[in-house]
Amino acid sequence: MVIGVGFLGAGPAVQAIHLPTLARLGESFRVAAVMDVNPETAQAIAGRAGARWTTSADDVMGDPQVDVVAVCSPSQFHASQVVAAIESGKKAILCEKPFATSRTEAEKLAEVSRDSGVPIVVGAMHTFDPGWTWVAPDVEQLVGVRRVRSTIVIPPNAHFEELATQIHSRGPLPATAGDGPAAHAARLRGSILGLAIHDLPLIRTVAPSISRVLSAQRLTPFGYVITYLAGDTVVELVAHVHEHRKQEWTLDIVAEQADVLVEFSPSYVHAGSAVVHVTRDGVVQTRPRSNSDGYLREWEHIAALCDGAIQETAELDNAIADLEYAIDLAEAVTEHVMEVAA
Ligand SMILES: NC(=O)c1ccc[n+]([C@@H]2O[C@H](COP(=O)([O-])OP(=O)(O)OC[C@H]3O[C@@H](n4cnc5c(N)ncnc54)[C@H](O)[C@@H]3O)[C@@H](O)[C@H]2O)c1
Repeated sequence: MVIGVGFLGAGPAVQAIHLPTLARLGESFRVAAVMDVNPETAQAIAGRAGARWTTSADDVMGDPQVDVVAVCSPSQFHASQVVAAIESGKKAILCEKPFATSRTEAEKLAEVSRDSGVPIVVGAMHTFDPGWTWVAPDVEQLVGVRRVRSTIVIPPNAHFEELATQIHSRGPLPATAGDGPAAHAARLRGSILGLAIHDLPLIRTVAPSISRVLSAQRLTPFGYVITYLAGDTVVELVAHVHEHRKQEWTLDIVAEQADVLVEFSPSYVHAGSAVVHVTRDGVVQTRPRSNSDGYLREWEHIAALCDGAIQETAELDNAIADLEYAIDLAEAVTEHVMEVAA
């Protein structure tokens, strides 16, 4: 069965990530429709994929050639477009991260998707990375986790987008009006839901409940240093987006009897899986890079859901819990910033 895909939104995430991924999975998928509110973008990107174009989301929902709706619009539209896609009776939905942007939206999504049974996959590619899925069962068993550190030191997205493809167009940057503590907290919230969210589902496996934010600072031009306690575990999130000579995207977990270091490959460019090192009693076991990556695995998972090879079980609950964790952190950070400023 060749699965028809309809995109909502055709910005760089579609141009540089999803179209090249689907091109590698051409036996399983065909792009049937591309929708964007910008007609030139819709037409150009549909043209690259041999698909039809439209500026109407309803048109994609009503298209019988579309089995899977991929929600790749700006984040504020995700929840309502996922709900509409569920209601249109598609086989599965891919929603780019973040799944939604508020608790109210998360609750609505949980209610509608549970009633429908339509599988929803959130485009959190690190959760699908073969390196992470290899080590995740061991990570879940870790006891006495002392410290978790997510380090994201990368150039701006445009750097990788342009390595991956010829970018046709980008959406406008989100407005970042204002100054002062409320604006500072709002920018941190945006960074948590936009960037930290890639690794928060992984961190949640070892630090499931956020107790207290210890510090939260923004870095310029874009980034953050956020430290929080989850029970006895200290979690440190460091991100700095800048033209660095040396890049790094790692997740480092230090527990009583083992350490786990996950070295992710750069986003966008299909550079293979993460490399993972597990150290126990001074002995290091390394899982080397493999050719597959989180984006390929994400779409392979959707194919398996569509043809019934796997039944979704806890996936939706996990997606909702991951989103709630990110929102909990964003709210705790806001509270911390406002307290410090008071
Ligand atoms: N998983 C990843 O590695 C990754 C990487 C980049 C972006 N993303 C996510 O993908 C999504 C899109 O990112 P992007 O970089 O392409 O964003 P972008 O803002 O540059 O482009 C979004 C596109 O959506 C269009 N659009 C605007 N409103 C729309 C609407 N209501 N319905 C349909 N289309 C609409 C815009 O015209 C634009 O072409 C975001 O949610 C982002 O968080 C994920």
